[in-house]
Amino acid sequence: MQGKILKLLLDADNYISGQAISEKLSVSRQAVNKSIMSLRNKGYEIESVTNKGYLLKKCPNVLNEELIKYNLKTDILGKKIKVLDSVTSTNDYLKKLGSKGEEHGTIIVAREQTAGKGRLGRVWQTKKDDGIAFSILLRPELSPVEVSSITPLTGLAVCKAINEFCMLDSKIKWPNDVIVGRKKLVGILTEMSAEFDRVDYVVIGIGINVEHTVFPEEIAHKATSILLETGRHIDKNKFLAGVITNLEKVLFENNYRLSGSVLKDYTDHCATIGRQVTFTRGSRNITGMAVSISNSGELEVMLSNGTIVTVNSGEVTVQGIY
Ligand code: BTN
Repeated sequence: MQGKILKLLLDADNYISGQAISEKLSVSRQAVNKSIMSLRNKGYEIESVTNKGYLLKKCPNVLNEELIKYNLKTDILGKKIKVLDSVTSTNDYLKKLGSKGEEHGTIIVAREQTAGKGRLGRVWQTKKDDGIAFSILLRPELSPVEVSSITPLTGLAVCKAINEFCMLDSKIKWPNDVIVGRKKLVGILTEMSAEFDRVDYVVIGIGINVEHTVFPEEIAHKATSILLETGRHIDKNKFLAGVITNLEKVLFENNYRLSGSVLKDYTDHCATIGRQVTFTRGSRNITGMAVSISNSGELEVMLSNGTIVTVNSGEVTVQGIY
């Protein structure tokens, strides 16, 4: 009901009377007043003028289900979406739901994570309202090996959404960090539950630095945020809806495959290609030139003797980035 009133207020380009709202939604005037009060308590600025009605003047810039849904243009992703004030990790929360049968496309967003996880066992900090942390549950009809394309496709979708919405020139640091210049803006952690030949579910976790102005000392030299890069406070709900809309397009239209034009698109957005990279094989550090990306998302590196080796995970240091 509150969501429906909000939608009417968002759609209206002028005052809308309490009477009109109660007729449109077939609810009492009292119920309308009550919902308006609770929207105000949530931070919506709603002006009310006698004989004219209500006018929505300002929405709170805090992640919230109604505003994300209002801006979403998807068929599947986010049809079920929940924003939590605080959670340990959106990935862990959604994995629990996944093992109990949660449906394909469900999204969990958090205003704060108290035990956010990064790749390779690292910590991902999300303090209240300074970033966007969210996870998406997918039940793709893929074999476990085919899941490897999901993370690069996600990186591409997020990178393009950032460029369109924030007017930035972000790029992908293989396999899936989104960077601006030499600094990281987005991290992605994909986890999966599978049997030998069949995927049960995949959880894609995405952390975007939005309002950060300071970072922990150990990452301060290599982390950035949308605020630091643009000097602007973006509308987090609109932006997140745009990111999710892009994700649906890139993941589903390509049937989770990284080939043909989307592979070219990924390569064009990949800052790692054409740079010298160093990675570890056993106990050895190997250096070469990153030349291309394979259909399964591996990095193809040319060594000084001309041989090409493929790198499929772990840490890669890219000269000139981090
Ligand atoms: C990385 O770059 O190391 C990956 C970071 C992934 C962070 C996101 S935030 C939402 C989701 N929940 C988590 O606990 N981690 C991911």
